[in-house]
Order: sequence, then C-alpha cells, then structure tokens
Amino acid sequence: MRTYQVSGGADAPVVPVERPVPVPAAGHLLVRVKAAALNARDRLIVSGTYTAPVPPGRVPLSDGAGVVAAVGDGVTRFRVGDRVLSGFHPDWIHGPFTGWGDLYGVQRDGWLTEYIAVHERSVAAVPDHLSFEEAATLPCAALTAWSAVDGVGPGDTVLVQGSGGVSVFALQFARLAGARVLATSSSPEKAERLRALGASEVVDYVRTPEWGAAVRELADGRGADLIVEIGGAGTVSQSLDALADGGRISLVGNLASGGGLDLTRFFRRGAALRTITVGSRSDLERMNQVIGRHRLRPVIDRVFPFAAAPDAFAYFEKGAGMGKVVISL
Ligand SMILES: NC(=O)c1ccc[n+]([C@@H]2O[C@H](COP(=O)([O-])OP(=O)(O)OC[C@H]3O[C@@H](n4cnc5c(N)ncnc54)[C@H](OP(=O)(O)O)[C@@H]3O)[C@@H](O)[C@H]2O)c1
Repeated sequence: MRTYQVSGGADAPVVPVERPVPVPAAGHLLVRVKAAALNARDRLIVSGTYTAPVPPGRVPLSDGAGVVAAVGDGVTRFRVGDRVLSGFHPDWIHGPFTGWGDLYGVQRDGWLTEYIAVHERSVAAVPDHLSFEEAATLPCAALTAWSAVDGVGPGDTVLVQGSGGVSVFALQFARLAGARVLATSSSPEKAERLRALGASEVVDYVRTPEWGAAVRELADGRGADLIVEIGGAGTVSQSLDALADGGRISLVGNLASGGGLDLTRFFRRGAALRTITVGSRSDLERMNQVIGRHRLRPVIDRVFPFAAAPDAFAYFEKGAGMGKVVISL
C-alpha cells in the first residue's frame, strides 16, 4: 500500500513509501482510508517542533475517515463496509480525561495512508449526511471546538479568535446552541465569510491591537461569556479585557506566543480558565449525533489528492484559507 511518512528534511514535509497492508489483530479493524485532514499540530510534527519527539518514518495525521475493509477476531461494534472516523485520543473512550496516551503521528502511525489497523473502540461512526472528506475534519478540530463551547446557550455571547479549523467549528456549534458569536480575524475577506457563517461582528485584531475593549463594547459593554482561546499567551490578556465578569475562557491553543501576563487579572475578572484536550470517543459520538440531527456541514477550504499530499502541507503552512485542508484518497 502507499503511505506517507515524515521526512525529517526541509525540502518535503512528507515522503511517499510502500508498506505492507496491516493485518487486523483481535478487536481491531482494517480501515481503507478515504480522506485525512490537517491540523495546526501537524505543522509542528512535520517540522520537528512538536512538544514530544516524533521518531523518523512516523506516518502523520490524527484525523481520518474511511471504510471498514476487514475485522479481527472478536470485533462487535462494526462490520465490513461501515464508515468510520478516527478518535483523536485512541485510548480515551469516555468519562474524565485519562492522559494523552499514545497519539497518532507521534507515538503511533497516523492516517495519511491507504490502510490503517485500529482498535474498534477507538473509532466512531461517520454521520450519514457527510462525505468522507467532511468526516475527516471532525476528530480533532471539531471535537475540540465542541468541548470548548460545552454549556453555552441562548443569551450567551461567545468569542472565537481567528478563522482556523477549531474557531470555525466553535462558531458553528455556538450558533447551533443559540448563542451570539463574535469573532476576530486578520483578514477582511475571512471576516465576511465568518459573518456569513453566523458571526454578528468581526474585529480585525491586527488593525485593532486593543481588540479586547472593542469586543467588550460589542458585547453590550459587559463582555463575552465564553472565549475560545486559540492564541494563548499572546492573546489571553486581551481576552481578559473582552471577558464578562464571571466569564469562562476555554484554553485551546497557543498560536500567539509572548504577551507577559499578570495572572491576578483572572481573579479580578472572577474568570474560570478551563483547558481543553480534544475529547473522548463518547464526546465524539455525542457531537456526531448533533451534527447529524442538524445536518451541519464542516467548512472545507481545499481538498488535495493523495498524490499531492506534500502540496497540502505547503498550502496549510501558508494559512491563506479558511476552514479545513483535506487530503482525499
Ligand atoms: N487543546 C486542544 O485540544 C487542541 C486541539 C486542536 C487544536 N489546538 C490548538 O489550537 C490552535 C488552533 O488550531 P487550528 O487547527 O484551528 O489552527 P489553524 O487552523 O492553523 O488556525 C489558523 C488561524 O488562526 C488564527 N490566528 C492565528 N494567530 C492569531 C491571533 N493572534 N489572534 C487571533 N487569531 C489568530 C488566524 O485566523 P485569521 O486568518 O482569521 O486571522 C489563522 O488563520 C493551535 O494552537 C492548536 O495547536 C488545541
């Protein structure tokens, strides 16, 4: 079968190789991968800057969807022909967070391959109305956004930062829950698209470096009830300006580095800071039920053929698009 592995070189982020099709062990499925999607972490994995060491030859990408091609002994949850998508934390099935475990693209081979063998407990069914390309966008970005906006409802104001994969899903889920959504973006074109997806107002965070006060003003002068924090250290100070008293910050990412922070500001705002670690398989299934019920469609920026996988990484690196970058097999 054809597979891509991390090259470790500067010229190409991933290189194609031939490997034998895996044989599913007891309890495992052999999945014929139909699509895989990129996330911010994959930029770090292929560039050798991820927080954990990535061994040479590792197959990247946590997010994929495909068809069950064969099953090992004792499999009960799925049959040959079923459509499945990956769980980001393969060993976190339900309940409270149990630790990072072995992750795709880092400690175990990922989904940028024609076939993968995975334990049946680590995958979920694909919502019926979605294509494989759409389903492949769900495991990391969508589930992270789902966890980050958990509990919001009508009457709440949610702020999403930028127009990346997580933020666009957070916008969609918060709107589904009936919340008002405000957004920031560096791009007037993407701001228009965020408005079309349901953002009431978009603040340009480059032209308005003090965007926290601007968001606060737009949120009736009292601030946002929940902020999906993808900037991290470099943006959380502005987020505290944008946050309502007693509001929540879901800490998701650290795309903006720097920004010396006085932690006492959390106390002055009475703010709750909650870290997000994607979600469990049962969270993924609950999210998929809602996606299915509302026939929500992921926002896909571009789809690349498998043969052009290195181009997908180069395109994603530039960050020019909005929504998910997908590789179709
Ligand atoms: N904790 C978790 O479980 C978890 C899971 C998934 C991702 N993450 C993390 O979450 C972050 C986002 O991931 P992603 O996959 O959505 O990334 P992505 O798709 O690469 O997001 C890129 C977008 O982020 C926006 N952005 C960058 N710097 C910004 C800033 N200073 N202020 C506001 N927006 C900014 C830009 O939007 P504009 O072009 O509109 O300006 C940019 O286009 C990453 O740090 C990732 O590692 C964490």
